[in-house]
Amino acid sequence: MSVPAPHARGATLLRCPVCAGGLRMADRSLVCDQRHTFDVARHGHVTLLRGAPPTGDDAEMVAARAAVFDAGHYAPLTRALAAAAGETRGGGKGRGDAASAGAAAERVVLDLGAGTGHHLAGVLDALPGALGIALDTSRPALRHAARAHADIAAIVADVWAPLPLRDDTVDLVLDVFSPRNAAEMARVLRPGGTALVVIPTPEHLAELSELHGVHVDPAKVERLERTVGAHLELAGREAVRWTMELDAEDVERVLEMSPAGAHRREGVTPRAATVSGSVELWTFRSPDVGGRAGLWPGDLADDGG
Ligand SMILES: C[S@@+](CC[C@H](N)C(=O)[O-])C[C@H]1O[C@@H](n2cnc3c(N)ncnc32)[C@H](O)[C@@H]1O
Ligand SMILES: [Zn+2]
Repeated sequence: MSVPAPHARGATLLRCPVCAGGLRMADRSLVCDQRHTFDVARHGHVTLLRGAPPTGDDAEMVAARAAVFDAGHYAPLTRALAAAAGETRGGGKGRGDAASAGAAAERVVLDLGAGTGHHLAGVLDALPGALGIALDTSRPALRHAARAHADIAAIVADVWAPLPLRDDTVDLVLDVFSPRNAAEMARVLRPGGTALVVIPTPEHLAELSELHGVHVDPAKVERLERTVGAHLELAGREAVRWTMELDAEDVERVLEMSPAGAHRREGVTPRAATVSGSVELWTFRSPDVGGRAGLWPGDLADDGG
């Protein structure tokens, strides 16, 4: 069994979760100088964690999410991310000035809480030749992510632990509906690199609110500005809104894939519905060299996504 190509390409960007030393590929394993060894699983992902992972999405949630994406219901969001990523093409110190297709070949895109890798795959399609790293605690999700695109390396890791990536290795971070550790985003981003962060607005899936007891916290926006803004410069905000025509089965799946699934109201049957997608897409920049002093206190922004 050969090593998945993206892992082989990305090995030198990674660091050991035990000793923080650099990793290299040896047979089907990633190994550091102290011989801490991490095997690439048959399903194509590698686990870079100390101890057991905190729970991520389970197999049912992942299957529901994959079906909703396959049906195209979140395509406008994937397109908005790909467009925003395309605009950053050539960003990042040392590669950016050559804003050519060649520059994309070396680019590294890290998706934190990547889930099935669907959005990351869409972004990689817009950056041919770039390497994608899908990071999540959910093994079922990463099995999908490892298959979602030929350029994705799937890594089981916890966003609340130090990320298993070396400093200044990533051109673009994605964080879509997932927990955000802004200090670690800033550490792994190259100077001049970009983070695209997506949060739902209170209108997101609002038509389904009678079916569950979950509401988007209006303070989320203020928290995003405070936590991520403490480490990266806010460069833009974009509202992304779309409409989903869902049949009853789709409605079940949309609930199942989100926190709403765990808070379903008893005795209310899902019906076909026209449902709003509504998110904010925020763009943050890592300051260029010189503007980065004082960024490394290591405090973790616990916002939970
Ligand atoms: C709401 S889903 C979003 C998935 C994907 N970004 C998308 O938009 O389809 C949140 C994801 O974060 C993952 N997750 C939750 N806690 C995590 C943690 N501490 N570290 C890494 N991933 C985590 C879950 O397993 C899940 O895949
Ligand atoms: Zn080590």
